Amino acid sequence: MLSLNNKNILLGVTGGIAAYKAAEFCRLLKKQGADVRVVMTDAAKEFIQPLTFQALTGNPVYNELFEADAQNAMDHIELARWADLLVIAPATADTLAKLADGYADNLLLTISLATKSKIAVAPAMNQQMFQNPATLKNIQTLQQRGVQIWGPDVGDQACGETGPGRMLEAEDLLQHVVQVMKPGSLSGCKVMITAGPTREAIDPVRYISNRSSGKMGYAVVQAAINAGADVTLVSGPVCLQSPQPVTLLACQSADEMYQQVMENINEQDIFIATAAVADYRMESIAAEKIKKSDDEMNLKLVKTEDILASVAALVNKPFCVGFAAETSHLEQYAQGKLKNKKLDLIAANRVDDPESGFEVENNALNVYWNNGSKQLSLKPKSLIAVELIDIITELFKSSRN
Ligand SMILES: Cc1cc2nc3c(=O)[nH]c(=O)nc-3n(C[C@H](O)[C@H](O)[C@H](O)COP(=O)(O)O)c2cc1C
Repeated sequence: MLSLNNKNILLGVTGGIAAYKAAEFCRLLKKQGADVRVVMTDAAKEFIQPLTFQALTGNPVYNELFEADAQNAMDHIELARWADLLVIAPATADTLAKLADGYADNLLLTISLATKSKIAVAPAMNQQMFQNPATLKNIQTLQQRGVQIWGPDVGDQACGETGPGRMLEAEDLLQHVVQVMKPGSLSGCKVMITAGPTREAIDPVRYISNRSSGKMGYAVVQAAINAGADVTLVSGPVCLQSPQPVTLLACQSADEMYQQVMENINEQDIFIATAAVADYRMESIAAEKIKKSDDEMNLKLVKTEDILASVAALVNKPFCVGFAAETSHLEQYAQGKLKNKKLDLIAANRVDDPESGFEVENNALNVYWNNGSKQLSLKPKSLIAVELIDIITELFKSSRN
């Protein structure tokens, strides 16, 4: 296992039953060579004594925002700068909510806002608390902001219930830390991702479009950034803030998206086409607003360029990933698209399911590649994007070996 020598790990401990597990996690971090400092919330001190962490780390334990004690002279800004990684374990529902909303009313929250280091949280709570839409939304917000979410596990809980909400074991948390401290799995890779719908103008005020919100694509962008990729986002019109850092190429129509992609595809290692690109556009766009006159109106549409097939047909083609949105025969259509367009991987979702697909927060995907497939069960798009990027990374790397 990679040594954590010379790594500064700031461990935030909040007020949950799993606080006792943080002591073992702290011990393992020290054993691996890390310099560990611990910040506890007031509630955490109800569950475990600061002295435990002081003894394990050999450093003072921090709690007060307004510390008068000279021994604890490192203030919140210094601690924020000192950390290579901030891990909050356990992370209570309360702390997750405050982190999501940007509160700074205790030392740990203030450091979380002030630090430039990576932040990871290990949620730990009763399964009902975890599955509450408020908690899931907070976790999703944090993930979209680049915070790593470690766990939780599913299993027996201290309260006697069973379900998701158990904090990961100390060994698992250590594995995550070691993983994060390695260069990202996609570091050094250039990844182009298309996202959102396109708009095909009919006249100066009307257009044909579709129900894509861009949420899935933007979640994939975030997951690729988190994996260390250098991301170019080619985006149709959406109401979302672009994750950072990216090179953002905005476009409206399928033609514009095609141009942006083809002009910038050189040197891309991976191309992920999540955009819902119009298959047809107007043969000619009316220069003036079309007036209401006859009872019927016919629009003449012509096929747009197939962006994904064009990229996959390039001589030096990148690793190509397509998305298929289907209302029936999911596997058959997805497998057909995989072969016909010569893709490396296709992610298919049923868009007629009200629980997943267009506009909603969750998604479930069936992923197919040559001689393989995997089902990614229903979960927030931000989490499913991480699973998808993991699969893409593995297949991309083995395709280059
Ligand atoms: C016995 C007991 C156990 C608790 N366990 C948890 C828990 O596992 N997870 C959680 O999110 N909150 C738990 N809570 C509630 C938190 O302690 C409470 O929300 C507190 O405000 C958290 O503050 P903090 O996030 O600043 O540490 C528990 C409360 C009590 C009294």
